Amino acid sequence: MSTDPRRVLVIGIGAGDPDHLTLAAVKAMRRASVFFVLGKGEEKSSLTDLRRRMLDEHASPGYRLVEAEDPWRDRERGDRAGYAAAVHDWRSRRADVCERLIREELPPGATGAFLVWGDPALYDSTLAVLDEIAGRGSVALEVEVVPGVSSVSALAARHRITLNRVGRPVRLTPARRLAEEGPGEDADVVVMLDAREGFTRYADRDDVHIYWGAYVGTPDEILVSGPLREVAGRIASLRAEARARHGWIMDTYLLRFGEQAD
Ligand SMILES: C[S@@+](CC[C@H](N)C(=O)[O-])C[C@H]1O[C@@H](n2cnc3c(N)ncnc32)[C@H](O)[C@@H]1O
Repeated sequence: MSTDPRRVLVIGIGAGDPDHLTLAAVKAMRRASVFFVLGKGEEKSSLTDLRRRMLDEHASPGYRLVEAEDPWRDRERGDRAGYAAAVHDWRSRRADVCERLIREELPPGATGAFLVWGDPALYDSTLAVLDEIAGRGSVALEVEVVPGVSSVSALAARHRITLNRVGRPVRLTPARRLAEEGPGEDADVVVMLDAREGFTRYADRDDVHIYWGAYVGTPDEILVSGPLREVAGRIASLRAEARARHGWIMDTYLLRFGEQAD
């Protein structure tokens, strides 16, 4: 039996706009014969449809798409330690599923790929899952990463803004950490993974500007920007309405603190 490592390409595909696929991503897609997709529910079917359309357009004929149900994740554990433990546990179960798929569906020496939403380097567990599989030592992997256009880059482009003000830092954070830690003075904060409209907590301040986008790059894209005090209510209702219509939502926003409204 061959002991050649299996090659696994982790390909960033952009966050919804098929034209955000890079030439490097297209070339990588052509090299793979098997594509792995994990997901669940309505979100899964929309996101998988986009992947399938990209593959039909760019992958080599005869490719195989292998889909599996994403393992259940405990979302009840609210404190920081509990959250980290729940994510760790979920990653391990994802690693179990992916290890089985790779072993059963990708022969040694062959090339497979994970198509990762946005950029694999940003709030995505694929690389950690592959590290865990490699660390177990039961299947030899050679992993290669192709960067993608993240939802953050797409958001900034659609609003025609730079994320930073001149010579200043930008912080990227999940909404839950912003709620725990606050923004800091005169900060520029990009907020992702917001389940609860975290921006509303700052809506009574008159020195905050928001650049918000949902389903950025897709035909369902919604964009709103303006002084937070003026637009927070509109964003909250657009968000609730879109979430009810689609069954899920993906939104990202920049909060610029310390900027007086005109
Ligand atoms: C698990 S993270 C994945 C991020 C992804 N790797 C990236 O580079 O954009 C999911 C979060 O990304 C953001 N996101 C992904 N796609 C988006 C889109 N098309 N529009 C707005 N936000 C998006 C949302 O904040 C969502 O909660």
